[in-house]
Amino acid sequence: MVESSRILVIGATGHVGGQVAAQLLATGSAVRALVRNPGAAALPAQVEIAPGDLSAPDTLRAALDGVDAVYLTWPMLSAEVAKAVIGVIAERGRRIVLLSSAAVDDALDEQDNPVGRAHAVIEQPILDSGLEWTFLRPHGFATNTLEWAPQIRTGNVVRGAYGKATMPLLHEADIAAVAVEALTTDGHAGARYELTGSAALSRIDQVEAIGAALGRPLRWEEIDPESAVDEMRWLTPEIARFVLGGLAALTETPGEPTATVREVTGAPARSYQQWAIDHRSDFA
Ligand SMILES: NC(=O)c1ccc[n+]([C@@H]2O[C@H](COP(=O)([O-])OP(=O)(O)OC[C@H]3O[C@@H](n4cnc5c(N)ncnc54)[C@H](OP(=O)(O)O)[C@@H]3O)[C@@H](O)[C@H]2O)c1
Repeated sequence: MVESSRILVIGATGHVGGQVAAQLLATGSAVRALVRNPGAAALPAQVEIAPGDLSAPDTLRAALDGVDAVYLTWPMLSAEVAKAVIGVIAERGRRIVLLSSAAVDDALDEQDNPVGRAHAVIEQPILDSGLEWTFLRPHGFATNTLEWAPQIRTGNVVRGAYGKATMPLLHEADIAAVAVEALTTDGHAGARYELTGSAALSRIDQVEAIGAALGRPLRWEEIDPESAVDEMRWLTPEIARFVLGGLAALTETPGEPTATVREVTGAPARSYQQWAIDHRSDFA
């Protein structure tokens, strides 16, 4: 444990960062959150709010005062901004835990997909910085399936592409638990942790698990991939096609669980069924 550590959480209003902040408080760490819009941030009262924005790297300086370690969610900004952000963090911080992505392929000099590229852009300046770093490289998040919430709130049918795609989705609390270990204990410097949930489930079975959590049966309805691109409006078409390409591949070869969550935290990764129960209210 870093003695009386103060940790800056960047992305504390998000799914994983919110869990990181909550779990850090439980370890007795002092938590500061870099927040773009302090008025709208619903964070625990013990979290110190520091206004700032990654797209304006100078705004991080005050937030980093007295900070030992930084948890960073990267919102896919440019390489130039990434370099400047890490430059400012390296002036004051010591340790950084980055929420990266399993889409980064270390075997490639140039990443071959938009998600890998967006995260390599922030990994590289960290590698060059002299900071003590840990990269979290998760596969798919269970929170991705919140995309079905509007359909489930208003009916019993979920329309989507590649219902047979099978993957071990991750509970955000498990990603956060790995982050908290890496932020607060030694032995994680230079680690690239490839994270997954505990067991692979098809999208059809994920919908069924949400139905079980809600106590009413839900049904999957298959649609063609191009209609799905049109419906995935929260992603750019390029990223939506990359995501759908990944789902197509997962219909052929199911995603394999890794043991990393258990190895790092000592507890097995939570199941998707547990995630559905924890998020019942999001679908009700
Ligand atoms: N979804 C997946 O399956 C998956 C898999 C692997 C990796 N990832 C990676 O995980 C990350 C997303 O994590 P998440 O789901 O926890 O995030 P999230 O819930 O989407 O939240 C994003 C957080 O980043 C903050 N943020 C955005 N732009 C910012 C800026 N310019 N300055 C400061 N803070 C900013 C947001 O703050 P506001 O409240 O101000 O918006 C929010 O707290 C992405 O990098 C994604 O590529 C996702």
